[in-house]
Amino acid sequence: TVTEPTSRALDEIKIGGMGASRRRVEDNRFIRGKGHYVDDVVLPGMLHMEILRSPVAHARIVSIDASAAWEIPGVRLVLTGEMMATRNLAWMPTLSYDTQAVLATDKVRFQGQEVAAVIADDPYIAKDACEAIVVEYEQLPVIVNPTQSLAPDAPLIRDDKVGQVDNVCFTWQVGDQDATDRAFAEADVVSRIEMHYPRSHPSPLETCGSVADFDRATGKLTVYMTTQAPHIVRAAVALIAELPEHLIRIVSPDLGGGFGNKVPVYPGYVISILASILTERPVKWIEDRTGNLISTGFGRDVYLTGEMALRKDGRILGVRMHTDSDHGAFFGDAQPSKFKIGLLHSAFACYDIPTAHLTARGVYTNKAPGGVAYRCSFRVTEAMFFQERMVQAAADDLGMDQAEFRRLNFVRDDDFPHRTPFGFLTDSGQYAKCLQVGLDAIDYEGFLREKAEAAKNGRLLGIGISCMTEPLGAGNSREYDILGIKMFDSAELRVHMTGKAILRTGAKTQGQGHETTWAQIVAHELGIPAEDILVEEGDTDTAPFGMGTYASRSTPVAGAAIAMAARKVKAKARQLAAHLLEVSEEDVEWELGRFYVRSAPDRGVSIQECAMAAYSNMPDGLEPGLEANAYYDPPNLTWPFGCYIATVEIDPATGVWDVLRFVAVDDCGVRINPMIVEGQIMGGLTEAYAMASMQFITFDADGNCIGSNFMDYLLPTAWETPGWELHEVVTPCPHHPIGAKGVGECATVGGPAAFVNAVMDALKGHGVRNVDMPLLPDRVHEALQTRGDVS
Ligand code: CDP
Repeated sequence: TVTEPTSRALDEIKIGGMGASRRRVEDNRFIRGKGHYVDDVVLPGMLHMEILRSPVAHARIVSIDASAAWEIPGVRLVLTGEMMATRNLAWMPTLSYDTQAVLATDKVRFQGQEVAAVIADDPYIAKDACEAIVVEYEQLPVIVNPTQSLAPDAPLIRDDKVGQVDNVCFTWQVGDQDATDRAFAEADVVSRIEMHYPRSHPSPLETCGSVADFDRATGKLTVYMTTQAPHIVRAAVALIAELPEHLIRIVSPDLGGGFGNKVPVYPGYVISILASILTERPVKWIEDRTGNLISTGFGRDVYLTGEMALRKDGRILGVRMHTDSDHGAFFGDAQPSKFKIGLLHSAFACYDIPTAHLTARGVYTNKAPGGVAYRCSFRVTEAMFFQERMVQAAADDLGMDQAEFRRLNFVRDDDFPHRTPFGFLTDSGQYAKCLQVGLDAIDYEGFLREKAEAAKNGRLLGIGISCMTEPLGAGNSREYDILGIKMFDSAELRVHMTGKAILRTGAKTQGQGHETTWAQIVAHELGIPAEDILVEEGDTDTAPFGMGTYASRSTPVAGAAIAMAARKVKAKARQLAAHLLEVSEEDVEWELGRFYVRSAPDRGVSIQECAMAAYSNMPDGLEPGLEANAYYDPPNLTWPFGCYIATVEIDPATGVWDVLRFVAVDDCGVRINPMIVEGQIMGGLTEAYAMASMQFITFDADGNCIGSNFMDYLLPTAWETPGWELHEVVTPCPHHPIGAKGVGECATVGGPAAFVNAVMDALKGHGVRNVDMPLLPDRVHEALQTRGDVS
């Protein structure tokens, strides 16, 4: 029998539990300028490192003369690839089973590649000394896109790899080709689309950096570094540098954003570690902005083509997708190793489609390596963009209303768990309801009338819808691993004598507010006020082993581990309560923050009293202390849903388009902190708007990176950013202990297609089917003038 909570149950919102829009505790230090970032780490005797980067995109290294650099007073060490090679560190493995040069030995393969490093008394000396290094390059033909890369006479970029005969780094396929062929044979209408999702960069405010400190006396290596996944780095350092893992401490202090940029292991980290070992001094490396933009992990850069088989009543019968993805010079994607093109095959998960087939081909080019999950769960941004552009094209080809077409093909609320056409199992959702909330909010019918009216006066109005569900929270460990390390996560909760607590997890916040929200989960489970719980992450000497934070996996995995650890603590507290109340455990009931006797609800003890008893009055035979660990291996990914609707107006004279309104409906299951969720969505939408409207990195024919600074690579400011109108639907996740799904990336993933679909809707009737992102005014203008697509 379940006893109704008595009035003594704590008000969960008051103690900052689940559902409380608790102010972010970390902001106390951030807004006061008291954050502690890697560049704030200053150690006695610390040296500074600068990296010399290649000015050219593809060239054989004829010679490197560092003698002038060595002569400069204050220079302590100059490292080249040749010297790294003597330690077997000239090359390192990537997270995708490829290799990457740490410092170039044979060739440089992209502009900005690391060629040499100088370690000096201060960063200015190191920078000057880099300029004194003379490198002779013999230039080679440059490849900057898949077409050039796949040409039969293309120069071989990866001639370092035994057996590599062309520039293909992988081919991969998934889905049922035969069934998909049959679906297309039966189709009334086949819709086709092709597009490029351009290369962009996560560009966190803080660039990458490290402070390596090797102590020869103890053999201990401590590295403060900008990493979203400290434990993976510890494992990588142990394996690559062959140092004992227990003597490696990776500390990821405050991070000024990550967005995927801080997942890979970069050459700079490795070089600073070797430099510290060689100099026996701490060595700091802080990347400058250009170094960050031209050399660290980019996102996207995929060419997508696809077809949709349709019945004339509007039902989707099947989908074909092909992608040629540009991975730069080294295949350095950060993703579960088994999935060569990330989770691109999560496309079409919210639609009830019988069959699909995806082929993927990755190629090497003379561009920086990467393929990081830029604020997305391993290429799902590309997947959802393709999906929603394809869906709009199909609705147009059928002459159907785009909202109606989606509604007709959505997975129904009672059809969960649902097997997607590529084999994922989605967990729950109310897709039609979310769409309806969005349509009502934007007054869909009203806008269509306004648009028709405006058209009479030559005005170009458009409405774009983008709906998506994405897989967040890798693992489970059966399917998801990185280089064989299974993807799960962890929490350790220690309740002190006075009822205060410390919580540590294997995740690593970069601004998402974990210090605030994790305490709320414990408050929800135990009734300990959130303000009494200190949350710590990022130090491998103290945090339990975890896979870090990216792909919005923290709430689905570490968040679940926290709830499970708190439940273990509660189970022990119950034993203590029974002892204090002098009843058997079966007679003890729980209400938030308090155990009481079932037959006498007035007789109870608080969780704090139990904590005190754990150290001062435990029953005979019960282990002292009140703490627990949990490692959580999720049974499935969580599948949040988003519906994003934009209305736009294009100025036909200039191609400039303005967002009139933007409505977002997000269903991320139970919201731990609604205010933080809204902040995540607003930030995500801003990044989506950036990609749709202005943000891309291009290269000229010589492989020079255009977009190497914030004059060329545009980040939207508050001035350009539209206002966001947010709505919510809550469908609890059936397999997550607190019903939460991830949310950090949903808006970035689903947002871009809403803008592009809106602009394309405005251009409908003008002979335009696709303009590739970013929708710069000149591109839109050209499309209008030429009445054709622009890529
Ligand atoms: O992995 P990452 O932290 O980037 O993403 P997330 O797990 O989606 O969480 C982002 C932030 O939103 C965290 O502070 C979460 O605790 C919070 N959140 C929430 O309050 N409720 C949810 N249902 C999901 C996330």
